[in-house]
Amino acid sequence: MSTIDIERVVNAFLPAKEITDIKHFAGREKLLQDSYLSLLSEGTYMALFGNRGIGKSSLARQIISMANGDNKILNKISYPSARKLDYLTVYYSCDDSIDNYESLLKKLLTTKDCLADWIYTIPTAYKEIQKINAGLDVGIAKVGSDIKTEDTETPIISSHDINVIFVNVVNEIVKQKISKDGILVIIDEYDRIKDSEGFAAFLKSASTNIPKVKFCIVGVAQDLQNLLRSHASSDRLFAGGTIYVPIMNPTELYKIIDNAENEIEHKIEFNKEARDKMIYLAQGHPYIIHLIGKYALLKAFTDKKNTVNVDQINDTLNQIAYNNVDPILERRYNEAVRSSLQREIVLKEFAKVDTTLGDIHTAPVYKKCIDLGVDNPSVYVGQLVLPEYGAEFLKVRDGYYRFKDSLFKAYSAAHPSLQKT
Ligand SMILES: Nc1ncnc2c1ncn2[C@@H]1O[C@H](COP(=O)(O)OP(=O)(O)OP(=O)(O)O)[C@@H](O)[C@H]1O
Ligand SMILES: [Mg+2]
Repeated sequence: MSTIDIERVVNAFLPAKEITDIKHFAGREKLLQDSYLSLLSEGTYMALFGNRGIGKSSLARQIISMANGDNKILNKISYPSARKLDYLTVYYSCDDSIDNYESLLKKLLTTKDCLADWIYTIPTAYKEIQKINAGLDVGIAKVGSDIKTEDTETPIISSHDINVIFVNVVNEIVKQKISKDGILVIIDEYDRIKDSEGFAAFLKSASTNIPKVKFCIVGVAQDLQNLLRSHASSDRLFAGGTIYVPIMNPTELYKIIDNAENEIEHKIEFNKEARDKMIYLAQGHPYIIHLIGKYALLKAFTDKKNTVNVDQINDTLNQIAYNNVDPILERRYNEAVRSSLQREIVLKEFAKVDTTLGDIHTAPVYKKCIDLGVDNPSVYVGQLVLPEYGAEFLKVRDGYYRFKDSLFKAYSAAHPSLQKT
C-alpha cells in the first residue's frame, strides 16, 4: 500500500465538527433548495430544527455560503440558474452564558465577528451603541481599542432600550447599502438560551422595524413552537422558512463514506458489509458514521490494511466505548445502565427498534427482553424514565415510549454490552 498522509486519514471523517467544506457535505439536496428559496423570500425568517447531531449547523454553514453569493453547493446539486445572493451574514452560536434574549442582542452587537466590526466603521451606528455604554457596560471599549465581549452589567438598561438600540444600529448598517439583500443573522444553538421569553415578540417588531434583516434560528427541537418556545403569532413570520432537518437516508450516509474514501484517494476502502453495518448502526445520524468511520479508518491505517471489514467495525465499537471517545454519550449510557445487565438489555432492545414509523410499542420489545432473560422489563422501562437514570425514555402514552434523543438511541444500540468486559 502506497503511503497516505496521516493528516488526511485523521480528517477524512469529521465527528467533532460541522461540515464547512462542500467536498465533505453529503446529500440534503431538498433542504439546500428550500434554504435557498427561503433566502430569496422577502420578509421570511428561517428556522432550522431537528434532533441533536443531525446536521443543522452543517446546513447553516452552507446557508451562509449561499447567502454570501457562493453557489458552489447549488451547482453541485445542479440547481438551475440560481441568482447569486448578496447578504451581509452574521453567525452567532449561543452558549450557556446567554441567559435571555437581551443578552443575545448584546452579544450580536458587541461580538467581533458579528455586528461589532461594522459598528466601528459606521459613525452613526457607533453613536447608537454608545447609548448602551451609557446605561450598561456591555464591553464596548472606547474608540480605537478592542471590543471586549464579556458582560459586566452595571446600571440598569431596560430590554426596551436594548431592542431600540439593536434596531437603530442595524438600520444604520442597512443604510450603508453594504449588501444588496440585507443582513442575515443566524443564531445557532438557540435552544441553549436559558430564558428566551420575549424573543418571539422582538422578532415580530423587528419584521416591521428592520425589514432588511432576516433572522435564521437554529436549534434542537421537533417543531417551530418548541424551538421558539412560544405560540405567539410570530410563527407567521417563518411561513415558507421552516426547515426540519430529518435523519439522513442510506444513500446520503453512503455518500459520507464515499467522500471520506475520496479524501484518502481510496487507499483504504470500506467493503460492502462494513458499509452496510455502519448505515444500520447510524439509524440515520451522520455523526455516528463519522465517529465509527474515523476510528475504523485510523485502525486500518495503523494496521497497514487497505480494506475495512465488518469485524473491524465491531472492534471499533469496542474501542469507541472503552476509550470513552464521546464522553458525553458514554456517560449517559453508563448512567442509564448503572451496571445492571437487565437494564442494559432493556435499553439496548428498545434502542434497536426501528422508529421511522413511530413510537416504540412495549409489548414486542418486552417479549424479546424476557427471551433474553430479563424477569420484569417494565420495571426497567419505568426506571429509564426517571432522572436518576438520565430520563432517556419518555412515556408517550400507555404502552408506548420514545427516546428523548435519537442520537443516544443509535449510540445505545451500537454500544457493546458493558457486561462483556
Ligand atoms: N450533510 C452532511 N454531510 C456529511 N456530514 C454531515 C452532514 N451534516 C452533518 N454531518 C456530520 O454530522 C455531525 C453532526 O453535524 P452538525 O454538527 O452539523 O449537527 P447539529 O445538528 O448542528 O448538531 P448539534 O445538535 O450537536 O448542534 C458532524 O460530524 C458533521 O460533520
Ligand atoms: Mg449544531
